[in-house]
Amino acid sequence: MARRKYVVGNWKMNGLVAALGEAQAIFAAAGTHPSVDVALCPPFTLIGAMVTAAPGAAVGGQDCHAAASGAFTGSVAASMLVDTGASLVIVGHSERREGFGETDADVKAKAEAALAAGLSVILCVGEPREVRESGGAIDYVLAQIAGSLPESFDPARLAIAYEPIWAIGTGLVPTVVDVADMHGAIRTKLREQSGAAATIRILYGGSVNGENAAELLDAGDVDGALVGGASLTAGKFVPIVEAAAALG
Ligand code: 13P
Repeated sequence: MARRKYVVGNWKMNGLVAALGEAQAIFAAAGTHPSVDVALCPPFTLIGAMVTAAPGAAVGGQDCHAAASGAFTGSVAASMLVDTGASLVIVGHSERREGFGETDADVKAKAEAALAAGLSVILCVGEPREVRESGGAIDYVLAQIAGSLPESFDPARLAIAYEPIWAIGTGLVPTVVDVADMHGAIRTKLREQSGAAATIRILYGGSVNGENAAELLDAGDVDGALVGGASLTAGKFVPIVEAAAALG
């Protein structure tokens, strides 16, 4: 089944109002490649302004709370993301799992809350370096999926992002064979667990840039990219979108 390529920028804790021009340039260029779905996930503080600056663009959050509202100082509910114009949210990023102690159960609850609020979800998984080196990466990632995949969902609104932790922000990337093996194993697991595997897009993330994007995006079962550092400027991000467009 043909799945549309999906290229998503995760700005992490980067970006002030002055950066909105980059977002406008990114979405303007993306508009010239209608075969590719492009989204940006800026910090919460910029979502509303980015939606206003780029009407109709897909803008998302980088996290949400699993609860609908309440005494959770500093947190943001999925309905609040919708309220500010977001259409998607990233959940389970390794920087949340590792840095904030989020468990698979937490990630599952967040994904379910986001879907219930009407958002699309990018659910992140990925192994640490020592697990990759010990040969256990596929088992590790499939266990994350078993624990964090929502019970039921519209497959058109769920994407998985495979982001090996050791590849994030390091300039290191797995071999294309390792990426294809992992994505194939994830696809098989999705088929077993949800029956909707053919529709769900599986993105690769970790040191994607304009030079390596074409090769990574062409690997088996890779339907797009989740990009950190290279998503902050149009100059670095647009070539990744173009690489996706060239692959159809
Ligand atoms: P980098 O592209 O900076 O390695 O970050 C990847 C990532 O964590 C995207 O969510």
